[in-house]
Amino acid sequence: MSFGKFRFIDVLNKESAKENMTTKLRKILPSDKNFFAKWWRDKDLIALTSGDFSVLSDTDINGYFATKLKNQALEYMIDFNGQTIGNISLDKRENGWYEIQIIIGEKDFWGQGHGTESIKQMVDLAKERKISKIYLEVRPDNIRAIRAYEKAGFFKKGIQNYPKNRNLPQTLRMELVT
Ligand SMILES: CC(C)(COP(=O)(O)OP(=O)(O)OC[C@H]1O[C@@H](n2cnc3c(N)ncnc32)[C@H](O)[C@@H]1OP(=O)(O)O)[C@@H](O)C(=O)NCCC(=O)NCCS
Repeated sequence: MSFGKFRFIDVLNKESAKENMTTKLRKILPSDKNFFAKWWRDKDLIALTSGDFSVLSDTDINGYFATKLKNQALEYMIDFNGQTIGNISLDKRENGWYEIQIIIGEKDFWGQGHGTESIKQMVDLAKERKISKIYLEVRPDNIRAIRAYEKAGFFKKGIQNYPKNRNLPQTLRMELVT
C-alpha cells in the first residue's frame, strides 16, 4: 500500500519537474532592462542580427528599451526553468503582415529547441489575435536560425536587398500564413 502511495508521489514530482522545465513566454517587465543591456552589446549576437557594432551608451539602451516597453502587448521574454534566456516580439507591419523577431540572448541555451518552441508559442498567440500573416527576416547564412524557423513552420520566401544598409545588405524573408 505505502509502496503504491510513494510511487504516486514520485509520479507527481516528476510531472511537476517536467512542468518547470518548459520554455515559457512571459510579458516583458521594466526590470528586464539589464538583459537587453547585456545582449545588445554582445558581439556574437550583433554579428548574427543587426551587424551594427556601434558602441551603445546607457542612454541608447534606455531609449531602445523604453520603446520595447511601449510595445508591451506584443513583447515577451523567454523563460526556461525559471531563468530568462531571451526575447521574442511580434510587430505590426504593412498590409496585415506581422514580423517576428527573436533572440536567445543566453548563448548556453542555443540549439536546445527553445527558439523553435518560442516561435510556435508566439504563432499560437498570434492566431488567438486573429493574426494570420507572419514573416521574419534572417541573415541568409544564419543556418541555426533558418532551421529553427523551418521547424516552426516558416517557408523561405526570397532574398530581400537593402543596398543602403552596409551592416545588413541582404536578408532571407521567411513566411508563415495560417
Ligand atoms: C536563432 C535562434 C532563435 C534559434 O533558437 P535555438 O533554440 O538556438 O534553435 P533550435 O534549437 O530551436 O533549432 C536549431 C536547429 O538548427 C540546427 N543547427 C544548428 N546549427 C546548425 C548548423 N550549423 N547547420 C545545420 N543545422 C544547424 C540544430 O541542430 C536545430 O535543428 P534540429 O533540431 O533539427 O537538430 C537562437 O539560436 C538565437 O537567438 N541565436 C542568436 C541570435 C540570432 O541568430 N537571432 C536570430 C536573428 S534572425
